[in-house]
Amino acid sequence: MKLLTIIGARPQFIKAAPFSEEFRKNNDEILVHTGQHYDTNMSDIFFDELGIPKPDYNLGVGSGNHGKQTASMLKGIEEILLEEKPDGLLVYGDTNSTLAGALAASKLHIPVYHVEAGLRSYNKLMPEEQNRIMTDHISEMLLCPTQTAVDNLNKEGVTTGVVKTGDIMYDTVIRNIGIANKKYSNGLWLKEIVRENYEISKISENGYYLSTIHRAENTDNPEKLSNIFKALSELDKPVILPLHPRTKKLIDNLEIDMKNLIIIKPIGYLLMLYLTSCAYMVVTDSGGLQKEAYFLKTPCTTLRDQTEWIETLENSWNVLSKINVEEIKTKVQRELTCLQHPQPMSFGEGNAALKICEAIVNGGEINE
Ligand code: UD1
Repeated sequence: MKLLTIIGARPQFIKAAPFSEEFRKNNDEILVHTGQHYDTNMSDIFFDELGIPKPDYNLGVGSGNHGKQTASMLKGIEEILLEEKPDGLLVYGDTNSTLAGALAASKLHIPVYHVEAGLRSYNKLMPEEQNRIMTDHISEMLLCPTQTAVDNLNKEGVTTGVVKTGDIMYDTVIRNIGIANKKYSNGLWLKEIVRENYEISKISENGYYLSTIHRAENTDNPEKLSNIFKALSELDKPVILPLHPRTKKLIDNLEIDMKNLIIIKPIGYLLMLYLTSCAYMVVTDSGGLQKEAYFLKTPCTTLRDQTEWIETLENSWNVLSKINVEEIKTKVQRELTCLQHPQPMSFGEGNAALKICEAIVNGGEINE
């Protein structure tokens, strides 16, 4: 089978690694990078660390408003589809690259396979929610990470082509946590951070919060952004903050004393995995990081009103917080009762890449 796969942003690189390895054992894959993420630390480092094959095409679309960015991708992907004539097109997740790929293929009647289908926050103001709803409804096969995702699709009347495969990000965590531990224990993790910021002598394993903030709903609202940074600055432990470029650009004008924050550039997957597993808690508005924290048994506070990953909320491993300074501080500094409770595992067994391949090649059938 010849499949054309679209990737473009960090979370897609992480998902592509185990799938490409599995699928290429018996099939052909053409990899298209839209160029949505293009900085070395937002893109190249993931290819190097995770051994993702070099893309066959890079559209180099870069940043822009949603319409302009999605339109450039749509045009570029259509040209490649007409040239390559694949048997199907695979997209991951909910970014603008996902929607552009699905739309281009669907118009050409090329079957779309959507990995991480069926997720819903039920907040249609989020660009990701719009992208995933539209992608799900034009996909031939909906590869769902959890039972919740299957149920969400059924509620919308989508019942054919729905396959539960487990979560492919769990595959990537399992494959890489040992490598990350080997590379970054013995203090190398600290050296990587010290290189960028010298005021961190007080930091120790399990003695810091790890935070990422990049969602448009938080960054593009000045009051919310200020509340988040004020709360993080007043926490009882230092906060390591690998900062997305969009957030970096926006915080320069905030009049907040940030000496509790260790602000560093975006980091690669392995260091992020190591920092997540050693953190006292993760504080984030990312979708993927909530789950990575859960897989690594690190408590999490999510700075959003909803989460697509409701399984992580059970036993308070993950707790949602509204963007209010006092609420964030109270939720983050809560008693960690979750550590005494079992962690229900609803994300499969870490073999999602294999199941996704089987489903695609066998028309939806997977070997149980
Ligand atoms: C995108 C996804 C989001 C995902 C995130 C992962 C959409 C709508 N959003 O958000 O769901 O969680 O990726 O990180 O697709 N920038 C750089 N260098 C880069 C990439 C981005 O400087 O390599 C800056 C640019 O100023 C750009 C801004 O970040 O305008 C936003 O980038 P964009 O790709 O549009 O969205 P993300 O916020 O990264």
